[in-house]
Amino acid sequence: MAQQKATNITWHEAVVTAEDREKLLNQKGCVIWFTGLSGSGKSTLANAVGQVLHQQQHHTYVLDGDNVRHGLNKNLGFSPEDREENIRRIGEVAKLFADAGTIVLTAFISPYRTDRDQARALIAEGRFVEVFVDCALEVCEERDTKGLYKKARAGEIKEFTGISAPYEPPLNPEVTVDTAALSIEECAQAVVSVLIKAGLVPAGN
Ligand code: ADX
Repeated sequence: MAQQKATNITWHEAVVTAEDREKLLNQKGCVIWFTGLSGSGKSTLANAVGQVLHQQQHHTYVLDGDNVRHGLNKNLGFSPEDREENIRRIGEVAKLFADAGTIVLTAFISPYRTDRDQARALIAEGRFVEVFVDCALEVCEERDTKGLYKKARAGEIKEFTGISAPYEPPLNPEVTVDTAALSIEECAQAVVSVLIKAGLVPAGN
């Protein structure tokens, strides 16, 4: 839990409200949270869903693990504490984006259930969609798109998720997709269908 250090601070209510922005954008700000092993296809899938929604005139933004770790979270590593802080900050950033009216797509391993649940707790009911990118470790390792599994097996990378650090699969994700069994397009369509059913985007827009 992050400690509240600042004192003597006052919350200011914005003049233009979240509802005003949603009306302008004609969409609902929400968070689509992709979780899964490295190499499971989170970023690819988040981008594919973002592209489908963008083509339907929706305002989207992808927050990606590797990218955010180049900037905002460059001072964090992969210890359990640093991963917790990584996800805490992303949860807060996603909340701001959603409040701005954006459909936010986050692609982080986010291996700990409690950290994901805390990110969910920041968002209004029905506006957080957890997508479990369920791809077997053997498949991710076989893909090894970044060559990191090989390094992890060789002991060159410590605390590597799935090899020497844990991954806790979601218990009740809104949607599960197996990127080993289905194409990225099919997985993206499955996610979009859930968003339509949840009333977050209109059907066949
Ligand atoms: S998380 O666990 O804190 O959610 P995040 O999604 O931001 O992780 O970053 C994961 C990415 O960092 C991986 O896709 C991989 O490219 C890289 N990475 C480097 N070291 C590790 C490690 N020890 N464990 C997992 N991923 C790592």
